[in-house]
Amino acid sequence: MNTPLTLNERFTQKFVSSHEFTALQPFVSAADTLIREKSGLGNGFLGWVRLPENYDKEEFARVKRTAEKIRNDSDVLVVIGIGGSYLGSRAVIEFCQPVFGTSDNKSPEILFLGNNLSPSHMVEVLNKCKGKRISVNVISKSGTTTEPALAFRVMKDLLEKEYGEDAKYRIYATTDKAKGTLKKLSDEKGYETFVIPDDIGGRYSVLTPVGLLPIAVAGIDINALMAGAFSAMNDFNTDDLGKNAAYRYAALRTIFSRKGKTSEITVGYEPFIASFCEWIKQLHGESEGKDNKGLFPASMIFSTDLHSLGQYVQQGQRNLFETVLWINNPKTDMSILSDPNNLDGLNFLSDKTLNEINRNAFMGTVLAHVEGGVPNILLELNDASPYSLGYLIYFYEKACALAGYLNGVNPFDQPGVESYKKNMFALLGKPGYEDMRAELEAKLK
Ligand code: PA5
Repeated sequence: MNTPLTLNERFTQKFVSSHEFTALQPFVSAADTLIREKSGLGNGFLGWVRLPENYDKEEFARVKRTAEKIRNDSDVLVVIGIGGSYLGSRAVIEFCQPVFGTSDNKSPEILFLGNNLSPSHMVEVLNKCKGKRISVNVISKSGTTTEPALAFRVMKDLLEKEYGEDAKYRIYATTDKAKGTLKKLSDEKGYETFVIPDDIGGRYSVLTPVGLLPIAVAGIDINALMAGAFSAMNDFNTDDLGKNAAYRYAALRTIFSRKGKTSEITVGYEPFIASFCEWIKQLHGESEGKDNKGLFPASMIFSTDLHSLGQYVQQGQRNLFETVLWINNPKTDMSILSDPNNLDGLNFLSDKTLNEINRNAFMGTVLAHVEGGVPNILLELNDASPYSLGYLIYFYEKACALAGYLNGVNPFDQPGVESYKKNMFALLGKPGYEDMRAELEAKLK
């Protein structure tokens, strides 16, 4: 069987010499030891490393049973969560499902809520739910995050009005196994609960029930997703930069960062990759962006963005490199028609498929951007199957952890996220924040 993912370094060679990997190898080995022996910063959050083999099999089976129930009794599943509590499931669902509708026309529609504070978004989701059979999966490790907690307050009220006592059979909570407001409420109300393991942080949680329940409700094969991750876990279980593609990718990012590149653009040539790029941005952004360090993670979808940001990539500041996620075997393809009149002059394409044209756009862009001084790392995914995606997810997780340790930061905390929350609570008059409120209001005058 083909390996699901190939790291192609051809378009980085102009910018990196092989001795740079040799020089980095001892540091990679040391960082690998921190992961392997759980001896680095944030070492309480390494549960994802062996998760593809150590996951709770009984709970996994319950996720599948519950997903089947929701698929049978619901038209809509509202998934409430923010950050790591929704980006992974959204990424996988949008990657695997058709852009319009669902693959089998019988999966419930998945609506994401509680990931912003927009009144329009909230009202539109409520409108979409009208007249439909609704279930809710509320996901929060802490159980206290404002955005999902507010959304859940609204959805709980809606379900209780609609279904009375039976609302509890339509609400599923994914949260801490023992503590937190959401766990307490769930136990009191009798909601079915799923566990976010203590040793797995939000952005590493897509292969726990956080991601798996919504993904299974969408009709995506979670066995295949886990099998792909398992295979990646075995493939990336060496510190050798010559053999471990995840570490090699992390090393390349580190080398570019140290050469003055400040931003990595993840590029996809399929619009369904856009949400996966959002997941990557959270993974890298929260793991690496601290202590005044870290690459800024950006993303673009080509050829769409070649007609806007492409200008910047070609000729703007030379602080960029790109990582292109290319899918070798597309989900589908079609041939271009021949037109007898050829008024649009496109008959030179009529013996080609759309994928061939897309591939040539990809190759042409890579050559142009490399010529313009932007290194391109290519990640070639065999196909868009759940198996390959599971493999890719694990690849990114392992690479990100290593890159964080190489850069001397804790890849598993996110202390900076608290700053806006404290200010927001103070401005909204939360008890206990009175002094801070006065201070902030003075600044806003
Ligand atoms: O990666 C993270 O830890 C964060 O993005 C959290 O997932 C996010 O803040 C949501 O937190 P919680 O699940 O506690 O509601």
